Amino acid sequence: MRARIITGVGGVDKMLNGGIPEGNQVILAGGPGAGKTLFCFEMLYKNAKAGVNAALVSFDESRKQLVMNAMDAFPEFADLNQLVDAGKIEVYDMESVEKALSNHPEMNEEYVNVAVGERERTLSAFFKQMEINLPKLLGKSQAKLIVIDNLTAVRNLIQNDYDYRNFVTNMSRILKGRGFTSLAIVDLADPREESVSFGPEFFAFDGIITMYYSLGAGKKVALMEVVKMRGTGHSHKAVPYEILPSGIKTLNVGMED
Ligand SMILES: Nc1ncnc2c1ncn2[C@@H]1O[C@H](COP(=O)(O)OP(=O)(O)O)[C@@H](O)[C@H]1O
Ligand SMILES: [Mg+2]
Repeated sequence: MRARIITGVGGVDKMLNGGIPEGNQVILAGGPGAGKTLFCFEMLYKNAKAGVNAALVSFDESRKQLVMNAMDAFPEFADLNQLVDAGKIEVYDMESVEKALSNHPEMNEEYVNVAVGERERTLSAFFKQMEINLPKLLGKSQAKLIVIDNLTAVRNLIQNDYDYRNFVTNMSRILKGRGFTSLAIVDLADPREESVSFGPEFFAFDGIITMYYSLGAGKKVALMEVVKMRGTGHSHKAVPYEILPSGIKTLNVGMED
């Protein structure tokens, strides 16, 4: 069996027959407020506790806000901020990525070259830098797992479908080439069960996990589903889940489904 990176999220590793096969590039898609960022923090936390370092790159919220929200939602992960401070969980936000890239000695030259003239950088140039340099930056870290929160925020920043698709496919190819396992968050425009769909840029990914809701019998139920996962057998069943102080818990999980 291929080595696994655990999600650590209640029930999900069972759905995955042990976890995400190492080296897989996975999409975590869901509606706003579905708990995608919290899912990732639980995964970061559980991996760090198991001695597997991980990094989160956020194009959405600030580092401080992210850690605060996760600790608020999961009071039982009381040492989460200590793991972040100790560098077992690396958290980069837009500000820290920019700073790290511009301060990194090996990257300075490339950074200056792309941002020609008065270094008046467009966001496209920024993402070009990210594409070129972030894997190098992460290559210096001990992280085995990379979380990207989130690709939809990147698309909104780039505002150009072609550049966005290039960014997504290049990023995933490079991370895979470096042997990272990654989890990239995508916002579903319409999180209802019957409307879940994916753009062509995601077809090359190794796995897709969705968090959506269904309106059965007039009741809204939050569901999680492993739609696809290369390299392992997995459950295809949509299972209800809850966000609890002790973590996200799925219900009625079984590999036989
Ligand atoms: N302190 C908390 N207690 C319970 N549930 C919380 C708490 N904080 C957040 N949540 C739940 O988590 C959701 C937000 O999770 P988040 O991972 O930020 O969503 P997403 O990244 O999918 O937009 C909220 O909509 C709420 O349901
Ligand atoms: Mg989020």
